[in-house]
Amino acid sequence: MNQLEVIKQNVIKCTKCDLCKTRTNSVPGKGNFQSDVIFVGEAPGRNEDKNGEPFVGAAGKKLSAALEGAGISREEVYITNVVKCRPPNNRVPNTKERDTCKKYLKEEISIIKPKIICVLGNTAFNSILGGSEITKFRGKLVRKDSQLYFLTIHPAATIYNQELISTLNEDIVKLFDLIRELKNNKTVSIDIEYSS
Ligand code: URA
Ligand code: SF4
Repeated sequence: MNQLEVIKQNVIKCTKCDLCKTRTNSVPGKGNFQSDVIFVGEAPGRNEDKNGEPFVGAAGKKLSAALEGAGISREEVYITNVVKCRPPNNRVPNTKERDTCKKYLKEEISIIKPKIICVLGNTAFNSILGGSEITKFRGKLVRKDSQLYFLTIHPAATIYNQELISTLNEDIVKLFDLIRELKNNKTVSIDIEYSS
């Protein structure tokens, strides 16, 4: 079993926080373990809880469309969440749940070693970088402890707001432009340096 499969199995049987009591299925990360980028959302919703896979509902369709717009298929990338089990009624996962579950995300990152971690929306922004107000910071490239992060809005935010679709799509195009530049050993300009 490869290391990501081990994490997946541990997530599937995890009972480290109370969300295990209300979930149907845990939702481990999914995708290409050699991906240059990891997308990180908030937590599974109803469809994800039913299927055990991340971003398979309405928000997932928006993410897939944005990827397609950048010429990328979902299979090429790795997609996961800060919290791997659905919070009841899709409430925002609390600090305890996020802190408990974050160990799995850290493991995913340390195995995949992505060039860039794409932070989707406020909960991931807050959980991973301690940030808030993603709409002010979206489209920016962040460096912290020599890891690069790209900030954008959560795909779910585009479901009822058509204007935000182009925002998300433009950001995803920029993300893959940055990845291409990094792969060609070009220097990219960092918008924000976070100190830990
Ligand atoms: N929203 C998320 O944050 N993650 C999912 O997997 C689905 C919807
Ligand atoms: Fe475990 Fe994370 Fe699910 Fe909590 S949310 S039970 S820590 S996998």
